[in-house]
Amino acid sequence: QQQVAESLYILNAFAQKFFAQQLFETEEGGNIALSYLEERGFTHETLHKFQVGYNPQARDVFAKHALQHQFSEEVLLKSGLVVNRYEELADNYRNRIIFPVHNNSGKIIGFGARVIGKADKAPKYINTPENELYIKSKILYGLYFARQAIDRSDECLLVEGYTDVISLAQAGVENVVASGGTSLTTDQLRLIKKYTNNLTIVYDGDAAGVKAALRGLDMALEESLNVQLVLIPDKEDPDSYVRLVGAQGFKDFVAENKKDFILFQLEVMLKEAGNDVNRKNEVVNHIAETISRINKAEDFTKQQEYIRQSVSILKIDESGFTNLVNKFI
Ligand code: UTP
Ligand code: MN
Ligand code: MN
Ligand code: MN
Ligand code: MN
Repeated sequence: QQQVAESLYILNAFAQKFFAQQLFETEEGGNIALSYLEERGFTHETLHKFQVGYNPQARDVFAKHALQHQFSEEVLLKSGLVVNRYEELADNYRNRIIFPVHNNSGKIIGFGARVIGKADKAPKYINTPENELYIKSKILYGLYFARQAIDRSDECLLVEGYTDVISLAQAGVENVVASGGTSLTTDQLRLIKKYTNNLTIVYDGDAAGVKAALRGLDMALEESLNVQLVLIPDKEDPDSYVRLVGAQGFKDFVAENKKDFILFQLEVMLKEAGNDVNRKNEVVNHIAETISRINKAEDFTKQQEYIRQSVSILKIDESGFTNLVNKFI
């Protein structure tokens, strides 16, 4: 077990070096991948910092290179860098940009591999399969680079994607990690809690982003994190938005638009309920229970504030709602 993990670390480091060389030092890498990344506005300095690379188009350049360097077929397959195609080893991330994923000591545990340009039929990203090192539920992309800034600012911004983290860091917003767009896990929330109690979720403003964000709420409450939410407007995401408005504009937008997670959820549920009285009643009950749950961890004034704001949004009687909240405690 320990042996497998160790050989995966060594292989991943070896692969990163190869991919970075392909990106920066070959004609193919320059023409196909580096030019694309430059067009998107990433500087070489940023790409070096995040150890970005390129896996060439040919069927098995990386596989051959690794075999020549005595890596076993078994560890190559386990790493996800190489797959078996028609009984022969082939590169899994052919013709893709490679984003290494680091653990907290800066060692590479896996990769995200992005198609170049528009993702028409192929999946946009291929990620490392679960193995001894890459355990998805415990990973926050970018944490290795963001820890100090999270600590210093006492806030962690959570975005969806690799390029969101990298773009924001390049703009000087460094307290950012990514979830990969899936719902948050308890392990991920506990990782954040090591550095701060203040989590600001900054997701893409599409339906998928909102859904992914909401799924994390109950767990976040249980970890007694202070969770705020901002949705990036229109078709933008944090990467494209920070390019549009600049670092200060981005920070201002987040500061002005971040909404308490509970109240955000209330508004979403209320919209879904529409004019249906029964459904609105369910929403009232649900939110009362949620507010009762934070009471354990948070102080009295904070609970009062939630009650005050909820009754104002729901247009219901405050004392009646307070009684309902207390029933759940
Ligand atoms: P997005 O589709 O928002 O991509 O997915 P992105 O991060 O903005 O990437 P760019 O800017 O187009 O290059 C958000 C995140 O969801 C995960 C990735 O972690 C991605 O960064 N994802 C998305 C996958 O794992 N696989 C996919 O096919 C798509
Ligand atoms: Mn360079
Ligand atoms: Mn999205
Ligand atoms: Mn996105
Ligand atoms: Mn994007």
